[in-house]
Amino acid sequence: MKLLITGACGFVGSALAECLLERVEGLSVTGVDNLMRPGAEINRGRIERLGVNFFHGDLRSSSDVSALPACDWVIDAAANPSVLAGLAGGASSRQLFEHNLAAFGNVLEYCRQHQAGLLLLSSSRIYSIPALAAIPLRVRNNAYTIERAGPFPAGLSTEGIGVGFSTASPLSLYGATKLASEIMALEYGAAFHFPVWITRCGVLAGAGQFGTASQGIFAFWINAHLRRRPIRYIGFGGAGFQTRDAFHPRDLAALLIAQMRTARADGQRTYTAGGGAANSMSLAQLTAWCDERFGPYSPAADPEPRPYDIPWVVMDNTAAAADFRWTIETPLPAILEGIAQHACNHPDWLEVSHA
Ligand SMILES: NC(=O)c1ccc[n+]([C@@H]2O[C@H](COP(=O)([O-])OP(=O)(O)OC[C@H]3O[C@@H](n4cnc5c(N)ncnc54)[C@H](O)[C@@H]3O)[C@@H](O)[C@H]2O)c1
Repeated sequence: MKLLITGACGFVGSALAECLLERVEGLSVTGVDNLMRPGAEINRGRIERLGVNFFHGDLRSSSDVSALPACDWVIDAAANPSVLAGLAGGASSRQLFEHNLAAFGNVLEYCRQHQAGLLLLSSSRIYSIPALAAIPLRVRNNAYTIERAGPFPAGLSTEGIGVGFSTASPLSLYGATKLASEIMALEYGAAFHFPVWITRCGVLAGAGQFGTASQGIFAFWINAHLRRRPIRYIGFGGAGFQTRDAFHPRDLAALLIAQMRTARADGQRTYTAGGGAANSMSLAQLTAWCDERFGPYSPAADPEPRPYDIPWVVMDNTAAAADFRWTIETPLPAILEGIAQHACNHPDWLEVSHA
């Protein structure tokens, strides 16, 4: 089987290349990346040593995409993944549009031309911010948790957020590029008869992730705590109760393998996947974990809200578990320990990440 990974030098793309080459016999992987993410260059040598056939190319350029060899499947892991992209953080709204949406049009054309199946990595950010902000929550052990008494809006259960949850705008500019990509992917798949699987991922985290305050929060927080750099509990009263679930790309890889091996052409194509409630943690809990690991260090409180911030995200894995027998294998403490060891071994990681 021949696989193309876009964004192959990013955190998720490079980790997926490694896991899939380990697990899928006879797999050959082509990777493409424009190396725009600070730090991505580091992964270029790493994936080439693993045997990935790497192309330095920009997906916004149709001639770069048409130079890529034919493959059976594409994992689309290229994007500007910051929820603040287009508003802050050095990327204009036009750049966000071009990298996340216009470039994706070239990926879809590639799939049409080569009849390649598509695995799109979408995001929990495709959900409505007002609807997410309205989820009934309470505080338990310094973390937001869902108020179990309900009643719940469509798509929400005690297991978390599922595919039926509201996608009404506003979502964030980033989230909108992802939702638009989902719609275009399904339409291309139906019109041109290639398989499409969409996975709406919760936070992905692990050693080697490029972390900034607006993206890759677990890696950013652990590296910043270790080095006593300024960290802030932003919004929500400055208490740090905002909570996310997290999962490792190697668990995502298992789901993508199951999707590629599934022959069915009809039925559900879009799934939610994340760490689930067992792999969720608030910033305050993450600080407590870091205090144990590196000694005490206190974040500042900054109650001023930040655009697009939401208090709680936990993805519902029920459908992915039922349809693909998929479960999370990597517990959150193992993910955190992996990041901590990597942070200890890479004293310049925040500079590498341009945090
Ligand atoms: N990390 C997460 O928590 C998370 C959660 C949900 C979804 N996702 C999705 O997973 C994917 C990968 O995220 P990540 O965390 O690895 O981000 P990342 O920034 O580490 O990797 C993205 C890679 O894409 C490359 N890229 C961007 N625009 C490109 C273009 N026009 N042409 C070629 N390469 C380009 C970048 O150079 C980078 O190496 C993204 O699509 C993101 O939306 C990530």
